[in-house]
Amino acid sequence: MGSGGREHALAWKLAQSPKLTKLFAAPGNPGIAEHAELVDLDPADHRATVDFCVANAVELVVIGPEAPLVGGLSDALRTMAIPVFGPNRIPAQLEGSKGFTKDLCARVGIPTARYVRASDRLAALSALDDFSLPVVIKADGLAAGKGVVIAETHEEARQAVEEMFEGSFGTAGSAVVIEEFLRGEEASFFALTDGETVLPFGSAQDHKRVGDGDTGPNTGGMGAYSPASILTPELEERAMAEIVRPTIRALAEQGTPYSGILYAGLMLTADGPKLIEYNARFGDPECQVLMMRLESDLLELMLATAHGRPAEAEPPRFSRDAALTVVMAATGYPGTPEKGGRIARLDAAAAKGATIFHAGTALSGGELIANGGRVLTVTARGRSVAEARDAAYAAVEAVEFPSGFYRSDIGWRELGRSSSRLAGQEQPVG
Ligand code: AMP
Ligand code: GLY
Repeated sequence: MGSGGREHALAWKLAQSPKLTKLFAAPGNPGIAEHAELVDLDPADHRATVDFCVANAVELVVIGPEAPLVGGLSDALRTMAIPVFGPNRIPAQLEGSKGFTKDLCARVGIPTARYVRASDRLAALSALDDFSLPVVIKADGLAAGKGVVIAETHEEARQAVEEMFEGSFGTAGSAVVIEEFLRGEEASFFALTDGETVLPFGSAQDHKRVGDGDTGPNTGGMGAYSPASILTPELEERAMAEIVRPTIRALAEQGTPYSGILYAGLMLTADGPKLIEYNARFGDPECQVLMMRLESDLLELMLATAHGRPAEAEPPRFSRDAALTVVMAATGYPGTPEKGGRIARLDAAAAKGATIFHAGTALSGGELIANGGRVLTVTARGRSVAEARDAAYAAVEAVEFPSGFYRSDIGWRELGRSSSRLAGQEQPVG
């Protein structure tokens, strides 16, 4: 279920499974259509989705985006004994409500930023006094990655609160979380779980700002690479022990087990990893780089997870290669993107060794056009992040998309690290 670059990457990987008999995608996109039969279903229409699955004897439903998860599509399917990859409505509140997550963290002692929840304007304004600057103000509900303001001044902070309660994020902003600003570098960490067993599922680093050098407004993500070497095996084990496992345990103990993929947005601070946010799904575009590196059978892992026995599948195995993806977006994104821009030469781009996942495309009279903010995610593998970057950008440059744009510095943090590591190395003799 879904229609973005994440879902194209999932469909691409599922289609490689020898166990797959038939793949439907709803609503899908022209890229996904190469691997699946497209079905005109709205993931918000639970009744129609359940009916379709029953009529077609669907054996597994994979839900890509957060909205249907938070809306309870998994519950509707599970009630009809249809296996699902993705959490039910209540555990999906880890993404659906920032306050839900912060309260859970406080209850079981998970390291995260100090916070106050407020559901009215005056309480929020007075809570601001308890925080030094910069201070972080978040709309409680789903806001497509845009409901977070990092205020550098008291005036900006007050204005952010006023705007949220005036409805600038719709109902998502009818409650807010105000929290301490954390310093450090961010990494995304993924875990596969049926609510009991928890298996690490790789790491990545996203690039959320629209412009080079991490400037401009936040987006859904303009590019990513995997693995995030900054999340060392030691830090990963701490994140599992201090953050992810206690969360999964707490949800199971309250009778609302979490099943699916859990995405932990981490800040690697001087005191160790701290949770910034959870998502109840794969990241987009983080999923694209994970799928490029995944060597195991995704279908087998998802089926085993949906049936409550992930440990019976072969443990997730990732290539030692790196993968990097560059998002090509339509002019105007993350504001109002220009629709209908012509896209061509994807074959020439793929010939450079990249895989091009469609994020927001459509067909119009046989021509491929832009139909969304993020339009393509151009993804490549390499022995290092630098190699993957070179391959991905060679392909990006081959794509003809005159009304599009992209960041030219995806992977810059990692590339900076590897070049300083190389500079510090002794040169071999001979
Ligand atoms: P979120 O939607 O919670 O992931 O927030 C979006 C982005 O805002 C994160 O990726 C961080 O870059 C930043 N952010 C959120 N919370 C904090 C925090 N407490 N301290 C520093 N940066 C934050
Ligand atoms: N790329 C960030 C997200 O999927 O939430």
